[in-house]
Amino acid sequence: MTAAAPSAASRIAVVTGASSGIGAATARRLAAEGYRVVLTARRKDRIEALAEELNAAGHSATSYALDVTERGAVDQFATAFQTIGVLVNNAGGALGADPVATGDPDDWRRMYETNVLGTLNVTQALLPALTASGDGTVVVVSSTAGFATYEGGAGYVAAKHAEHVLAETLRLEIVGTPVRVIEIAPGMVKTDEFALTRFDGDTEKAAKVYEGVAEPLTAEDVADTIGWAITRPSHVNIDLMVVRPRAQASNTKVHREK
Ligand SMILES: NC(=O)c1ccc[n+]([C@@H]2O[C@H](COP(=O)([O-])OP(=O)(O)OC[C@H]3O[C@@H](n4cnc5c(N)ncnc54)[C@H](OP(=O)(O)O)[C@@H]3O)[C@@H](O)[C@H]2O)c1
Repeated sequence: MTAAAPSAASRIAVVTGASSGIGAATARRLAAEGYRVVLTARRKDRIEALAEELNAAGHSATSYALDVTERGAVDQFATAFQTIGVLVNNAGGALGADPVATGDPDDWRRMYETNVLGTLNVTQALLPALTASGDGTVVVVSSTAGFATYEGGAGYVAAKHAEHVLAETLRLEIVGTPVRVIEIAPGMVKTDEFALTRFDGDTEKAAKVYEGVAEPLTAEDVADTIGWAITRPSHVNIDLMVVRPRAQASNTKVHREK
């Protein structure tokens, strides 16, 4: 079956957290699918460079520096759009891996603010433009952490559970409008920064996350699932896709080569 081409009214795709990892790969993938991509993240230099690269390759990309936790800035950003086809809520991540007994409440707060309130802010601000397109898609990049917990993961797991609930509830509430809500829940993805950010720049701890795992998912693997889900015909809503590497059977059951 051939993928549906984006209609003229729904050609713009906004990607949050497009400065690295899954967001950058998704922006590349959607540009290749024919979308005019709008790259957002806090690091302006990164998204500007990616937009330049995409434009030089004949695609259409713009960049906009945005912190998804700053509601005023998000609202200001949204005024630029009367209609958009796709919003990929990807900005987020984990901070720390401490047990509940000693976890830093500030890490928990920041994870909730970025993963949950960030997704809420951008989705609320762009929902009118998504609806106005007559054919909108909201993607939420949650995680397998949104479905099951693991030791040392409580702060991130709690935030991703909340992000999952946001996606599921939004789908219930806007049924009957021309907007789909797709949740992509990846397992272990080896991106350059996810584990580094989690362990505050500690490269040894970050490397341990993927140690012995033959083939963790790549950012491109996840972008591929997002691209596939978005390009299904408009009446097809891929509610939820859980995607893990073959070597990972659950959040806690990972095959590591000796
Ligand atoms: N890697 C994994 O194993 C994995 C598994 C499941 C789910 N996920 C989820 O997938 C998403 C992307 O992860 P990744 O692996 O690609 O990690 P990453 O490379 O660290 O990407 C995180 C992105 O989020 C952006 N971001 C963080 N805080 C932000 C804020 N306040 N405002 C705007 N942008 C912000 C970062 O850009 P700036 O720093 O430039 O703002 C960056 O582009 C996250 O939601 C993560 O939780 C990852």
